[in-house]
Amino acid sequence: VASSALELGGIKIAKDDVVKDDPTNNVPDTIFSKMGMQLHRRNNHPLGILKNGIYEYFDTNYPNLFDKFDDLCPIVSVKQNFDDVLVPADHVSRSYNDTYYVDAKTVLRCHTSAHQAELLRRGHTHFLVTGDVYRRDSIDSTHYPVFHQMEGVCVFTPDNWQASSLDPTAYAAEDLKKSLEGLARHLFGAVEMRWIDAYFPFTNPSYELEIYFKEKWMEVLGCGVMEQEILKCNGRSDSVAWAFGLGLERLAMVLFDIPDIRLFWTNDERFTSQFSEGQMGVKFKPFSKYPPCYKDISFWINESFTENNLCEVVRGIAGDLVEEVVLIDNFTNKKGLTSHCYRIAYRSMERSLTDEEINNLQWNVREQVQEKLNVVLR
Ligand code: PHE
Repeated sequence: VASSALELGGIKIAKDDVVKDDPTNNVPDTIFSKMGMQLHRRNNHPLGILKNGIYEYFDTNYPNLFDKFDDLCPIVSVKQNFDDVLVPADHVSRSYNDTYYVDAKTVLRCHTSAHQAELLRRGHTHFLVTGDVYRRDSIDSTHYPVFHQMEGVCVFTPDNWQASSLDPTAYAAEDLKKSLEGLARHLFGAVEMRWIDAYFPFTNPSYELEIYFKEKWMEVLGCGVMEQEILKCNGRSDSVAWAFGLGLERLAMVLFDIPDIRLFWTNDERFTSQFSEGQMGVKFKPFSKYPPCYKDISFWINESFTENNLCEVVRGIAGDLVEEVVLIDNFTNKKGLTSHCYRIAYRSMERSLTDEEINNLQWNVREQVQEKLNVVLR
């Protein structure tokens, strides 16, 4: 049961301020109940251990340089989350299908980049921001609507690049690559790495760093040279900067061998007792895996149907008992009606589920899918 208020960064937030019965609000109870958990601030939790491991890299290589923030409030304005970091007006990430809106002007941040502008404005030139971020998404072992990111920003002034033979952008890009390759080595050891050209609205040039790990290439982070516009608007016209953002769960899952993203949220001691402060990369020993149970649901969709909306309904009913929702059949008949069949995998991380319990969940899913998504069950 979601509590009715929570304390975040020293402010009290009432449930009614986040979950509202209003068409400009799409935050369900299940999401509110995760806010304020602050997994990244627990030193014995894999996310906290990883955060501290990254801090250690920056503290060792740049003593006393980076300011650290890990309790900035995740409720931010549309301006902070999107406009201030130059996300175009028509970018998909702004849609109600992808982002949780508290009201038309307020969202649950979908990335820690939401804090870049305000921190620059407050005069910070080297900072790391860690926090919970929120995205509407589909359901599988690596996606969860709440996850954690760390943002890093490093600002240079003219004396930095003037001593080199490089132009400011090239100087920042070179420093960025050197610093982040060092971070990847600190976390993963002597791995092969490669830089992939990427696109982000707030950096140019933009890159992704990949490492060759366990026989495949894996994305570690997104980064780039900060758009000059962002510096200019926040009192740093004379400077250049680099920025990166990384997903803590994605990295922790590989570093600690954690097979399912839902485990980060469990209070089961068989999980929590395996991690302790400063123990980076201890391998998680799975406790017996309980059997999954699969249930299919088929319906005729309408124009407004989206998979994210379906997953929100399923998660609202089954919570962390749902492991995966996969589209297994999709066809359009002669009349132009489109049918989707989804397979829902139910599995608890902690115990085996009874047939009765699963049938009940599936019954509720069928009812609510019909009612809330306006589709016709087959
Ligand atoms: N905000 C980006 C994301 O969520 C990551 C990023 C941060 C990329 C900073 C470049 C610079 O995917």
